[in-house]
Amino acid sequence: MDFKHQSTSVSAIASASADALLVVVVGAKAPGDLPRALAQAVQGAIKQGDFALEAGRSLYFGKLTGVKALRVAIAAATDASPRAVKSALGQGLALLKGLGGKQLAVWIAGAGAVTEAHAEALATACGDATYLYRHTKPSAGTPSKLARATLLCTAADAAAVARGLQRGAAIVEGVTFARELANRPANHCTPTQLASHAEELAREAKLKVEVLGRKEIEKLGMGSFLAVAQGSEEPPRFIVLRYAGAAPDDAPVVLVGKGITFDTGGISIKPAAEMDEMKFDMGGAASVLGTFRAIAQLKPRVNLVGLIPTCENMPSGRAVKPGDVVKSLAGKTIEILNTDAEGRLILCDALTYAERFKPKAVVDIATLTGACVVALGHHRSGMFTPHDELADALSRAGDAALDPCWRMPVDTEYDEALKSNFADIANVGPRAGGAITAAMFLKRFTDKLRWAHLDIAGTAWKSGAQKGATGRPVGLLTHFVLAQAKAAG
Ligand code: BES
Ligand code: MN
Ligand code: ZN
Repeated sequence: MDFKHQSTSVSAIASASADALLVVVVGAKAPGDLPRALAQAVQGAIKQGDFALEAGRSLYFGKLTGVKALRVAIAAATDASPRAVKSALGQGLALLKGLGGKQLAVWIAGAGAVTEAHAEALATACGDATYLYRHTKPSAGTPSKLARATLLCTAADAAAVARGLQRGAAIVEGVTFARELANRPANHCTPTQLASHAEELAREAKLKVEVLGRKEIEKLGMGSFLAVAQGSEEPPRFIVLRYAGAAPDDAPVVLVGKGITFDTGGISIKPAAEMDEMKFDMGGAASVLGTFRAIAQLKPRVNLVGLIPTCENMPSGRAVKPGDVVKSLAGKTIEILNTDAEGRLILCDALTYAERFKPKAVVDIATLTGACVVALGHHRSGMFTPHDELADALSRAGDAALDPCWRMPVDTEYDEALKSNFADIANVGPRAGGAITAAMFLKRFTDKLRWAHLDIAGTAWKSGAQKGATGRPVGLLTHFVLAQAKAAG
């Protein structure tokens, strides 16, 4: 869908041409920049006991006297923060869902100024409201008819709004792509198919891509990655994507995404309940591909490399066994005590591979541990890094994108847990602090890097009736990469 902005006066809002008008009302009192016809309708509804200016409240009017649009939705926001406004926009869009309108006009009343962040929030709220998974269920609902959203604003706010809409539109493209890939079942999104999607993206967005197969991965010496892949009939792939927005000698940002297209646990097999959700175990890879889609559209002056080790984690006669010792690309030996701790085994080799790009920063993104879900739930992704500046940059990016993360510790004390009598390192520690020990394992492979790890096990998808991929953290990563471009000047 299309995002536009239009400078208007308050009195002209009621006469904006659109099929539907969505008005967010900020604050507990009807603000002064609410057109008269709407102010009257809102006051009337409040008097009648049908509405209140409180978070979560919204109201649908059909035709309203004095308003040109045939449909009007009002949604209340407690304050002018992008978070509150986005939530109100979501409420309003839900009211308009399934109706006939193609063209939507939006006004945010009582915000003082409509900002870049508000505009981005409108785009991402529309993306959230209109995404529909149909790949293996063509009968699912009817696709949204919404074709264009126009954010009304004052002339003074127009430039900022235009920037926000442009960034938001690109993030929507990226998030939608990530959701679509992650939602596809493992038999429709094998490592080979994931690599084909990366190649297709590269063709469309003019990126460079390289896909390595088993032979080439063997030749490189990625013994840890291959140990995970060896139990499956599906061959592994190692995807290398490159976006060149800056001079060739400009150090790139590297994103590494966990691409387990299905995680059975391997010989340390998982219980049957909810195992289907392990098709989402390539959510990190999907978020890297989604971020490339967004960045290729925004074209910032930065170099970006994406690394995706992708395979299935399966039990079989050829599968790696608990106690097996393998040799990583870094040369360190690893005792695989639990074959279900496979994510770190494919990531460590990709992190070592990242060294060859002499990157200014490396961020890996992985649905890595159930322990991270226990620690942080489903709101914030876990963020691990010993580098304070990188931590701040990721926190800021997450806040700005409304795709937040929370820093977790990586003290050397936690490293003790990974001692092995038979190898340089064990792939698991005790249950306690499981998200941290997973990060400590990765940290052992990052001495030469400015590295951070995002554990998205709690944020990459939703369970239950709303089961499906979220596309997170494409928003966070896109903001992070854009900020890296700005920081470089
Ligand atoms: N992909 C899982 C992590 C996961 C589990 C994410 C459940 C979301 C929900 C990962 O490969 C895994 O199995 N991790 C193990 C590690 C353990 C064996 C140390 C876990 O979290 O149980
Ligand atoms: Mn696992
Ligand atoms: Zn996994």
